[in-house]
Parts: sequence; C-alpha cells; structure tokens
Amino acid sequence: MTASLFSRLDQHQPSNPDSCSIRLNGIEHQVPRSMSVAAALLYLGQRATRTHPVSGQPRAALCHMGVCFECLVTIDGQQSQRGCMRPVTANMSIITTSKGQSE
Ligand code: FES
Repeated sequence: MTASLFSRLDQHQPSNPDSCSIRLNGIEHQVPRSMSVAAALLYLGQRATRTHPVSGQPRAALCHMGVCFECLVTIDGQQSQRGCMRPVTANMSIITTSKGQSE
C-alpha cells in the first residue's frame, strides 16, 4: 500500500489548484478535479442522488462502476446521467432530484 493510492479528503482544500468549481443544486462548491460526480456528491455530504419514483425513498450511488444506475443525476441539463461515470469538470451543473444533504 502506497500513500499515492489513498489520500485524505481534507487534503483537497478549496485553494488546491487541482480543485474546480461546480454547482450542486444551484450552490457553488469546490471539489477535486480527479473525482467522479458521484464521489463529489459524497465528498460534499450529499448521499441521495434521486428519489425512487414509486416509494419516494432516497436512492444513493451503490456500485460506482456504471452498473446499478442508482447515481442518476442531471448534469449540465442532461437528465439521467450516471454520476459515477462522469468526472467533474469546471463549472459543471449537477442537479439531484433529492435535495436532502444527508439522506
Ligand atoms: S453508482 Fe452504480 S451506476 Fe453509478
């Protein structure tokens, strides 16, 4: 195990040049560029990506490899995008259908 494989989240400070600005549900945040959208949501404390269409229960990213489709969000106006398959980019707009910060 090497240090380069694992790093603490608090090492990614907003002043870090490897960070970029995104808008999550209309609120601007700084996140590391190396993250997927699904990982960035977790980094920001937003676990729920959407609500189940029948039960209304919050859903969250599960597999983080493009299989389960639990991470669907709207990215730059494109609905139903798998957040785990898209890296964050500067000025990206991400909309979840679940607005809860800790669901
Ligand atoms: S977390 Fe499973 S498809 Fe994205």
